[in-house]
Formats: sequence, C-alpha cells, structure tokens
Amino acid sequence: MKKIIVKDNLEGAKVGFDIIQEGLQNNSLKVLGLATGSTPESLYKLIRESDLDFSEVISVNLDEYVGLDATHDQSYQYFMKENLFNVKPFKASYLPNGANLDAEAECTAYEKILSENPIDLQILGIGTNGHIGFNEPGSSFDSVTRKVELTPETIEANSRFFESKDDVPTHAYSMGIGTILKSKKIILFAYGENKAEAIRRLFEEGVSEDLPASALKNHPDVTVIIDEAAASKLS
Ligand code: GLP
Repeated sequence: MKKIIVKDNLEGAKVGFDIIQEGLQNNSLKVLGLATGSTPESLYKLIRESDLDFSEVISVNLDEYVGLDATHDQSYQYFMKENLFNVKPFKASYLPNGANLDAEAECTAYEKILSENPIDLQILGIGTNGHIGFNEPGSSFDSVTRKVELTPETIEANSRFFESKDDVPTHAYSMGIGTILKSKKIILFAYGENKAEAIRRLFEEGVSEDLPASALKNHPDVTVIIDEAAASKLS
C-alpha cells in the first residue's frame, strides 16, 4: 500500500482528483467505483466544480441501506445525486437498490452488473472499526455483494445523519471484500482523529478479518490518502 499524508481533506481530494483526471485523459478509467459518507464529499465537490466529463464512464457504488428508497434523503442513491450525479452525469450509474427487499435477487443482480463492468478505480472511505463499504469486522475476504447487518458502532457513527439512532437502518447491501479487491486500482481516504486508530491498525498490525481494510494489503495497487489527524497515531 502506498501512503500519502496530506494536510487536510482538501489536499487529499486534490490528490484523488488528479488520479481520476489522469485516468480519464489516458482512457484507462471506464468504470469508477464510488463511496458515500462524509469522506469523499471534498472530492465530489472538486469534481462538480471541474470540467471533467464522465459521460463515457460508468459508476458503481459500494453499498446502500436496506429499506431506504432513492427518495429518502439518507439513501446513498440520494446522496450520490446531490453530491455528484445531478451535476456530473455518468453514462450509467449503478447502486444496489435498497427498496428491493428480496436480498438474494438484488445482490445477484448487482454482482452481475459488477462482473459486466469491472472496476478500474475504486474510491473507499473507512469506518472507525476498519470497515470498508459495509463490510464489518469478521467479513470474509472472499465475500461478494450481500445483505449485511450493521454493527452497533457503525449505527452509532452513522446516526449523526439521521434524526435518531432508531432511524438508522440495521442492514445494508454491500459489495463484498472479494468484490472490492477485484478493482484494478483502489484509493482509500481517511480524515480526522476518529479514524486515527483504524489507520494505526491498518499500517501497524497484520492482515486480519477483524480489520476489514487490512484485506487491501493483499491488493497490488492501493493508495491510502490520510490527513494529519488520521495519521496522528502512526509511530
Ligand atoms: C459508512 C459507509 C462507508 C464509509 C464509512 C465512513 O458507513 N458505508 O462506505 O466509508 O462509513 O463514513 P464517513 O466517511 O462518513 O466517515
């Protein structure tokens, strides 16, 4: 894993932006894997304000809450429209459909989309417990898209976006770790002191299913972009 320490999320976004721009310019970026959460917001803002053109690029998102449809303002579908797609339309954009309660049908359909559109570059954030996508600790490194149960820690962390903790969905559809590892290139962003422990474990502990992000050490092309606060526990 390549590690880049930046001053703050604006500087981190710029590094990510340049990698995306280069991929578009040299035609190597046909399928872009996207993430939600607060972490990629600065990157999406830079993209919105740029002249980058995604009309020939397909996007696929990591995950979606089960039970929220596209009109719910905390659905990831809604987030992506607000933060990116309304301003920068893609050739096609795919997310798991949280309104489809038939988990098996939805996850099989999503894996088919991913196998037909292999990801050239996947953007990732990281949970305080080291999750990537919604792959919580204990997830198999071979996992594919499936319905997952969110841990109390993740529900607590994400409750800041909802009126109360009880409103946070308990389950999500998420690309698996195995699915994510198929991406040709991966960039993980981590900002803020609340990510410092996960980042310390990522760089200073071994590969273990207890820390889902550590699976990335098995991948040949991963860049981790962290701000000074998230790097503060690195020795
Ligand atoms: C969420 C998402 C992840 C995200 C992570 C961190 O639960 N499923 O894809 O990377 O948690 O979120 P944030 O960027 O808001 O800290």
